[in-house]
Amino acid sequence: MNLLITNIRQLVNVRESPTILRGAELAYLPVIEDAWLLIRDGRIQGYGKMATLANREFQEGEDLYDAQGATILPAWCDSHTHIVFAASREEEFVDKIRGLSYAEIAAKGGGILNSAQKLNDTPEDILFDQAWERLQSLMRLGTGAIEIKSGYGLTVAGELKMLRVIKRLKEKAPIPVKASFLGAHTFPLAYREDHEGYIRMIIDDMLPAIAAEGLADYIDVFCEQGFFNPEETERICRSGMAIGLKPKIHANQLHVSGGTEIGIKLGALSVDHLETMDEHAMETLAASNTIGTLLPTAAFFLRMPFQPARALIEKGCAIALASDYNPGSSPSGNMNLVLSMSCIQMKLLPEEAINAATINGAFAMELGQELGSITPGKRANLIITQPIPSLAYLPYAFGSNLIDKVLINGSFI
Ligand code: NIG
Ligand code: FE
Repeated sequence: MNLLITNIRQLVNVRESPTILRGAELAYLPVIEDAWLLIRDGRIQGYGKMATLANREFQEGEDLYDAQGATILPAWCDSHTHIVFAASREEEFVDKIRGLSYAEIAAKGGGILNSAQKLNDTPEDILFDQAWERLQSLMRLGTGAIEIKSGYGLTVAGELKMLRVIKRLKEKAPIPVKASFLGAHTFPLAYREDHEGYIRMIIDDMLPAIAAEGLADYIDVFCEQGFFNPEETERICRSGMAIGLKPKIHANQLHVSGGTEIGIKLGALSVDHLETMDEHAMETLAASNTIGTLLPTAAFFLRMPFQPARALIEKGCAIALASDYNPGSSPSGNMNLVLSMSCIQMKLLPEEAINAATINGAFAMELGQELGSITPGKRANLIITQPIPSLAYLPYAFGSNLIDKVLINGSFI
């Protein structure tokens, strides 16, 4: 199927040879005004200014779509989610409003362990159906590539069940899906006093089974006080790396944990969260090839200070934006809201935010040559907006759904 789109007011993030953007590069967002775009066999074939369209021969078998002044962007690349879960946790949300602390909620059986209990009690097919519904809603909100983590199993059977669900999502979804193994999300109750026992289970039982079934692309660890310390994080990641999984780490969320430095030492693809960064962590990130993935809706939902995005950019870091969609700290996967929140609360410029949520998000999933920009040969996963007066209007008009249509592999969904 071929599709020629005409009368595009702004064709956004047009790049001949995309690379990871860092520091000042993030503020440059290349746009073609008054453009056309040609899609062939689900991929971007060409583009140009409307004035040049007359020179281009109209070919048989081409559908025509008049964008009537809409703006077209690459679909969002959401590089950090936990969308496989068995149940929502709004009762904890209300408990927190009433003043209960994280420790009190955990003592009532809440938190990650609450999700793990429910996940282990839920059959694989039901988990799949629920996650598939979530994934479809996210595509309608403009998400065109996604990473999904395990980590609510915390048993061999539970983790494998989650990863098999993610594998089925990969097979069924029309968008790229990447799988991260997050067995090291927290210590199960039975291993509270036996960290070594649970780490041995991850290394000796979970990882070999994951390797045998080819269930994961990445290895993730929640490196945090009261969870996994930097030494444990390194050990688990190295075992994952030995079976070909690259690290993507939960780092510096609640405390200056050393997670950023460990991730970079291991050559992690990304270190994610980064609410609590000190000077050393920021300098180390800036001097590395690792992407810092910021999750503003998680900071918002937990009423935490937002990630120091301006300081990271000034130091020259490569940053991406992602939703962290999960039932405990970010019960939304709406990347349009992530974009707004990053501009409103972290003072990203709209251009920086769009780059961080598209091309850098794609690179944070090793999809930088496949998605995240308008580039010949890339998949035509695109957002067609309602008529908007400018690009800045997208993050500015927070809470409005400004997406008119979404194209996935060149087809309207
Ligand atoms: O990314 N920080 C660790 N994990 C999740 C939240 C887990 C939960 O509360 O279910 C996160 O925020
Ligand atoms: Fe997360």
